[in-house]
Amino acid sequence: MKTVLITGANGLLGQKLCRDFSSSHKVVATDLHPESRLSIPNLSYESLDSTDGKALEFHVRFYNPFVIINAASYTDVDRCEIHQTEAWAVNVGAVKNLVKVCLERKIKLIHLSTDHIFDGEKGPYSEDDPPNPVNFYGKTKLESEGVIKQSGIDSLIVRTNVLYGFGERVKKNFLLWLLEKFSAGEKLKIVTDQLNNPTLADNLSECILEMVERVFPGSFTSGGQNISPATILPSR
Ligand SMILES: NC(=O)c1ccc[n+]([C@@H]2O[C@H](COP(=O)([O-])OP(=O)(O)OC[C@H]3O[C@@H](n4cnc5c(N)ncnc54)[C@H](OP(=O)(O)O)[C@@H]3O)[C@@H](O)[C@H]2O)c1
Repeated sequence: MKTVLITGANGLLGQKLCRDFSSSHKVVATDLHPESRLSIPNLSYESLDSTDGKALEFHVRFYNPFVIINAASYTDVDRCEIHQTEAWAVNVGAVKNLVKVCLERKIKLIHLSTDHIFDGEKGPYSEDDPPNPVNFYGKTKLESEGVIKQSGIDSLIVRTNVLYGFGERVKKNFLLWLLEKFSAGEKLKIVTDQLNNPTLADNLSECILEMVERVFPGSFTSGGQNISPATILPSR
């Protein structure tokens, strides 16, 4: 059974990835928290701050994954504006750490990025559209993409959009917010000037599993829109 290391394993997407991969892989789930939020077979949990390059190297050497999926991120867009140093450290610094271990040990990297790398003036966006982030979160994620592309490692960058779904102690997402409002009998106030492709985290996770099983052997040539609502940038 091959080993996959997942960062951000306690987040919404991370939890789905852990479940899906554990049926066919040994999963090394990592996150900041002291313990896993999931109890599933084939899963080892390690508390790991991915900005800590030495700790990352230690776990990678110990578990020897063939692929790392980076679902860890500083995801609070508004807090990114206020806490820019911390946001840069997680969204860019940690990615540099991942690229370093992937280069050294020939590990493949799947990295999660976002539609926030675009300015929202038009859309839907394709892989070839020029990025132009208008907020700090988008700037960090675009920089992280650049770090990966320049490194030449085997990688897939998956740009997703408004992730939603249920999970153990996950942050509030659009679906959870809607349900909270409905159950409180409150009137909804929703912006009317935004178009999105809300993406069910369960679906994206299944797509990522399929990508690992089919794309990395080299059979994938599509731009990705017909696989999921996410945009997928293969490294080759
Ligand atoms: N959610 C969306 O709508 C959306 C849209 C587009 C793209 N994405 C991207 O998709 C990916 C997954 O998103 P998500 O919604 O599943 O995120 P999430 O629920 O916020 O999960 C991210 C996880 O990463 C952890 N984390 C933060 N800093 C870390 C560090 N230094 N080391 C290790 N773990 C760390 C977080 O812990 P704490 O909770 O303690 O901070 C959290 O458990 C991210 O790359 C995100 O940028 C998300």
